[in-house]
Amino acid sequence: MTVWGAGAVEALGAGGTLRVAPGDVVTPLARERARELDVVIEPGTPAAGGTPAAGGAPAARAAAGSGKAASAPVQPRPPSGALFRRGAPLPPGTGPGGSGAGRVVIVGAGNVGMIAALRLADADLFDEIVLVDIDEGRAAGVALDLSHTAPLSGFATRIRGVGTVEAAGRADYVVITAGKPRTPGMSRSDLIGTNAAIVGDVAARVAATSPQAVIVVVTNPLDEMTQHAWTSSGFPAERVVGMAGVLDTARFQALSALATGGRADRIEAWALGSHGDEMVVPLSRARLDGRPLAEAVGATALDAVVGRARGSGAEVVGLLRSGSAFLAPGLSAARMVLAMARDTGEVLPAAVLADGTYGIRDVYVGLPARFGRGGVRAIVELDLRPEELTALRSAAERIRERLGSLAGVS
Ligand code: LAC
Repeated sequence: MTVWGAGAVEALGAGGTLRVAPGDVVTPLARERARELDVVIEPGTPAAGGTPAAGGAPAARAAAGSGKAASAPVQPRPPSGALFRRGAPLPPGTGPGGSGAGRVVIVGAGNVGMIAALRLADADLFDEIVLVDIDEGRAAGVALDLSHTAPLSGFATRIRGVGTVEAAGRADYVVITAGKPRTPGMSRSDLIGTNAAIVGDVAARVAATSPQAVIVVVTNPLDEMTQHAWTSSGFPAERVVGMAGVLDTARFQALSALATGGRADRIEAWALGSHGDEMVVPLSRARLDGRPLAEAVGATALDAVVGRARGSGAEVVGLLRSGSAFLAPGLSAARMVLAMARDTGEVLPAAVLADGTYGIRDVYVGLPARFGRGGVRAIVELDLRPEELTALRSAAERIRERLGSLAGVS
């Protein structure tokens, strides 16, 4: 057994890789230094990865960067859980709780981030949830408050709040909620310039810190920001998705249930297209207990439900007068992360990079997609009516046009 101290990490230098053998111990201080220096701790042959602090002797200096990972990062296993210290970063699957589904980093500790964190913590699935906010006190405060709910909800997931993506550590899933919300009278598109700068910066930092993560974008304007996060991260498209289809579908189901007087979860529906005026709810696919929803609600009333679902975000903004909706958006983002982490293979509506299915290509737009642990497995083709297909294609074109106005924003 080898004890790896902070000196061994420092000897590797920024960006290095410390390879540890099973049974080795990495001290908490070494883990902290590894986080600060962006040194990866992973299983491997120690000789290739650094110089241990054997017997407490100061670690000899290894050539900086000599242990850089040559291959895709591996989720490290714990050399020992014995030295776990509250707040010390641990690799996924190593903590005292959770079931080893790794770490979720939520960028933006506003209301949406907070609600997403609450749901993800409640799931008792992840080792750690980290909230990141430029207002570090807010992130830390929400994290501490949420950690106090552990005995109430019955979870063992650790929760931290930090000021930077880098301090959060390597993530398996990253939810980006950072950005300005709408105020009454604003459309989501009015936020494009401001939020592109924020989302682009965050996505690039995520790519550097967590090169294997899946990114879920929540920031508006949703479809455009998801595409921007994809280009800024350099990630493959299956690992960058946008949240809004789950939210818009939930709103349509909930509002339809008000019209039918029944339960929302008995309604099957899809909200596709854009998260905005070009939202497409193909009514040919909307069903109540397997029967066409139009039969239960009536065609005119159903059109009104679609219109209200499309305007629900603005309706909530108007009522709140400050900030935008957060309960349904936060739970929707969490729903996507949970589907992926549980590797359910579920089909969910989401902003994904169109791949030619539906006659749409190379633009992010809301489509049904099958999700697995690593993000999007495939875009799923539903049988749609010609006018529904046309509406979907024109939604994609409008998103493409708005993306044109993003040129030059990094
Ligand atoms: C909404 C925001 C999150 O639809 O876009 O409420």
